[in-house]
Formats: sequence, C-alpha cells, structure tokens
Amino acid sequence: MPPAIRFDGVAKRYIIHHQRPRSFQEALVNMVHRRNGDREVFWALHDVSFSIEPGETVGIIGPNGSGKSTALKLISRIIEPTSGSVAVAGRVAALIELGAGFHPDLTGRENIYLLGSIMGISGREMDRRLSAIVEFAELERFIDTAVKHYSSGMYMRLGFSTAIHVDADVFLIDELLAVGDEHFQRKCLEAIQGFQQQGMTVVLVTHDLPLAGKFCPRTILLQQGHLLADGPTAGVLQQYLEVAAH
Ligand SMILES: Nc1ncnc2c1ncn2[C@@H]1O[C@H](COP(=O)(O)OP(=O)(O)O)[C@@H](O)[C@H]1O
Ligand SMILES: [Mg+2]
Repeated sequence: MPPAIRFDGVAKRYIIHHQRPRSFQEALVNMVHRRNGDREVFWALHDVSFSIEPGETVGIIGPNGSGKSTALKLISRIIEPTSGSVAVAGRVAALIELGAGFHPDLTGRENIYLLGSIMGISGREMDRRLSAIVEFAELERFIDTAVKHYSSGMYMRLGFSTAIHVDADVFLIDELLAVGDEHFQRKCLEAIQGFQQQGMTVVLVTHDLPLAGKFCPRTILLQQGHLLADGPTAGVLQQYLEVAAH
C-alpha cells in the first residue's frame, strides 16, 4: 500500500508584500534587511521529508510560525510546494482555519451541501446525512442562519461535524479543537478515536502536548520550517520542551 501522505524534500516559499517605504528611516531599514521595499521572500518550509502510513495518527508540534499550518495546507492541496513533492493517497477532509471552506453568506445547511459536493457526494446522499451532521454539531436552531453570524465555536462545530461525515481517508485538524467548549471537545476526541479504530489516517496539529501524548503514537516537531524530530511522541515532546526553553 502506498503511504497515506508522503513529503519528499518539500520546500515552501512565500512572497511577503510590504508597503512602500514612506520615510527615509523605513528605506534605510529596508536596505539593512536587504528588502527591496515591497517584496520579501520567506521560506516557511525547508527540505521537509516524512511519510505517514494509512491508519497512523501523527501529531505535528512546534512554535508559532514553524510551518505547521503550511504543512497541512500542502496535504490538503490548498497550496502547492515550491519544490519537492507532496503525495496523498485518498480523500482529505481538513479542519484547518476557522471558516476555511465555508462561504460566509450561505447558511449552515447550504455549506454542508457545498462541502459534500466538493467531496464528490451527491445531494441525495447528503440529504441522508444531514440530520446526523446537524445533530452532532448541535446546531439545529441555527442551521438556516448564514454562517457569517456564527460564533467561532459554532463554526468549528459545523466544520468538524461536516468533515467527519464526508467519507475522508485522511483527516487533518489544525489546533481548532481548542475553540470548542469542554463538552464538544470531548465529543471531537471520541470521534477521532472512532477514526483511529476505523483505520483512518489522522494528522493533528496541536499546542496541547498532553493531547498529543494521548492520541498520537508518533509526533513530528517543526521549528522555523525545519523538521527537527520525527518519532515516538514522548521523546519528541521532551525535545520540544528543550527547544522551547531556549
Ligand atoms: N500566505 C502567506 N504569505 C506569507 N507568509 C506566510 C503565509 N502563510 C504563512 N506565512 C508565514 O510562514 C510561516 C509559517 O506559517 P504557518 O505555517 O502558519 O506556521 P504555524 O502554523 O506553525 O504557526 C510564518 O512565519 C507565517 O508568517
Ligand atoms: Mg498554524
């Protein structure tokens, strides 16, 4: 069987656009930093290689800005690598950014059908799944409200619930669980355990180290775009705490 996810020498470059310098000082600062005033090249990932087998649950940890979300966006093909290759076997459901994938002017119900169609599920099949999605999300009263009026917790519940009902093989979660309340977090974690039992591949980006310890036998540590460690979670968490202390 091919790996569920394979990164081979993956690098990702962003171009950051700055405003033009408005003063002599700003121009001087730009010179010192070798910027040309409005454009800076930034490498969010450097030569990252790993592979994840079907059915694994893998944590990704690292300080802010270390490239975790960039890695998940590459897996879900929201962005393309600048060099190297990303291969993913199977269908990906991603819970990456609040609202990513949702259309703000559409209602919860309309967004559920939209995501279903993106995942290749017919409207009729989504009709059958709708009540389970709404019930899990506990959004019965708000399902016909435009999602731009949702709170961040409601967004997350709709996103999580839809994502777990669209037959994905690979499930990506980026920190978002922290947005939910205790009760919903517990439901999410139970759902994730269900996926693990079904042999689904799960990638969990989290700052919650005990959570990584509990759910992920294996963890990848990123720092400033470099893969610093990849292995059994306990050892990688230890290494992260040492990195974080410096
Ligand atoms: N679209 C973008 N344009 C420019 N820089 C970006 C963009 N997205 C992310 N970055 C930068 O790339 C780095 C890694 O970002 P990210 O992958 O979101 O980190 P993490 O999720 O680990 O906090 C950060 O320094 C961030 O500012
Ligand atoms: Mg992030």
